[in-house]
Amino acid sequence: MNKIFLTRKIPEVGIKMLEEKGFELDIYPDEHAPSHEELLERLKSSEYVGLVSLLTDKIDSSVFDASPNIKIVANYATGFNNIDVEEAKKRGVVVTNTPGVSALAVAEHTVALMLALTTRLVEGDLFMREGKFKGWTPYNFVGTDLSGKTIGLIGVGNIGGRVAHILKGFGVNVIYNDVAKNEKIESDCGAVFYSDVNELLKAADIVSLHVPLMDSTHHLINESHLKIMKPTAFLINTSRGPVVDEVALVEALKNKTIAGAGLDVFEFEPNLADGLKDLQNVVLTPHIASARESARNDMAVLAAQSIVDFFEGNEVKNKVG
Ligand code: GLV
Repeated sequence: MNKIFLTRKIPEVGIKMLEEKGFELDIYPDEHAPSHEELLERLKSSEYVGLVSLLTDKIDSSVFDASPNIKIVANYATGFNNIDVEEAKKRGVVVTNTPGVSALAVAEHTVALMLALTTRLVEGDLFMREGKFKGWTPYNFVGTDLSGKTIGLIGVGNIGGRVAHILKGFGVNVIYNDVAKNEKIESDCGAVFYSDVNELLKAADIVSLHVPLMDSTHHLINESHLKIMKPTAFLINTSRGPVVDEVALVEALKNKTIAGAGLDVFEFEPNLADGLKDLQNVVLTPHIASARESARNDMAVLAAQSIVDFFEGNEVKNKVG
């Protein structure tokens, strides 16, 4: 019987699909990620032929050495920067991800972070809970309109593209940077292409990041980029933490180089850069942008389908690398 290791319990719908197809499943029992050593220990077997991994699991040569018969890694995530795809390729291991199905959730979360900053929603909530509300005043938590602002999207794939669509009702101007012009976003949303990221950073009131983490996007936003941005600008990151130099961001937020940030992902996840959580001008969420039942179920289906298709000899969709 084909034995699959799952580094965490994915939603039942995916587990059922695999069980119904006769796979034998070994599921890591904790909710949180195993340490790399523990993962290797558990995987040390020639019995496993497939692996369902999460974005918190580092899948590298040591994993393939520990479990040499693994033929497919189905990553339960859109991003796959946790996997050494080159190494997998060298060893003939297929790698898949779960693109698209969480795009709506992540895009809505992105816009929620934008609105949380412009309305100062989280600061206001904290103020109420601390019992500080003494009645209405003209100047308490004065925010800023989203309408009329220029939103700079870096990356307009599934998620960035959705953000542009959602923002259509907000009366904003959307500008974008990507590896190529995207005629569809331009005609659907009136978005304007900026081939030069620095020009986009100069022009945007809110910059939102929607790129995968790769060598070329590591610290895509660093100290010098933050300096180019408007002092009134907000930075939103729902992509991957290391796309932003978080230490430089903390400095920029402290010095008011930019006005604020909305972050769902962190460079040193689950840790935060020193000083980040003490700042009032940031809204922080714990990497939950795709945390919706619909998205997570659909991700489980895609991951399970990759395993099923692979072993049934069907075309495997969502291959990466
Ligand atoms: C979440 O961050 C994902 O990549 O699916």
